[in-house]
Amino acid sequence: MRIDENSGIRLAREAPPAANGELMERLLYARKLARFGGALALAAFHLVLSSARGEDERITFEKHIAPIFQARCVKCHGEGKLEGGLDLRRKFLLAKGGDSGTALVEGKPEESLLIEKISKGEMPPKEEGKLDDKQIELIRRWVSAGAPIARNGVPVRTLRMTP
Ligand code: HEC
Repeated sequence: MRIDENSGIRLAREAPPAANGELMERLLYARKLARFGGALALAAFHLVLSSARGEDERITFEKHIAPIFQARCVKCHGEGKLEGGLDLRRKFLLAKGGDSGTALVEGKPEESLLIEKISKGEMPPKEEGKLDDKQIELIRRWVSAGAPIARNGVPVRTLRMTP
């Protein structure tokens, strides 16, 4: 607990001179220390939250998702064929969807047909072999983060409106 020691020294210096009475000094010191501890905990909590979310917002369609689709899906969804009426080469086409309507609901993997199909193992079709669990998890996290895209290699959708 090096940080407490240091702050203790700093706070002790800030404390009123002994002439104000030892009890008063101790009370003030305890209050400052408690406030400082609370602020520290809050800051750490925010840091954990923002880094978890920030990381997922760096998953972009172009960098992480398109290569998976390119390798496993576009031969039936975009290049040559358009099975189910669905083109998987671009994010906006995914949102536009196919015969069943939109395949992507930003921020809501549980409502996205894309996630339903890949996690049930229905897409790619059985004979093509399932995506591996890590790929499914990555695509799910991408949808959860609001399905960010990149322009010039930089994530575009980094700001989110929170109510
Ligand atoms: C061998 C061809 C083939 C491959 C590869 C393939 N699909 Fe499909 N996909 C189809 C066919 C055929 C349909 C339409 C019939 C159906 O919905 O099962 C379809 C339908 C879908 C639909 C539903 C579209 C709609 O609106 O009804 C989704 C979503 C989908 N595919 C996602 C994917 C994803 C994601 C991949 C790659 C991970 C993939 N597919 C790979 C053939 C393929």
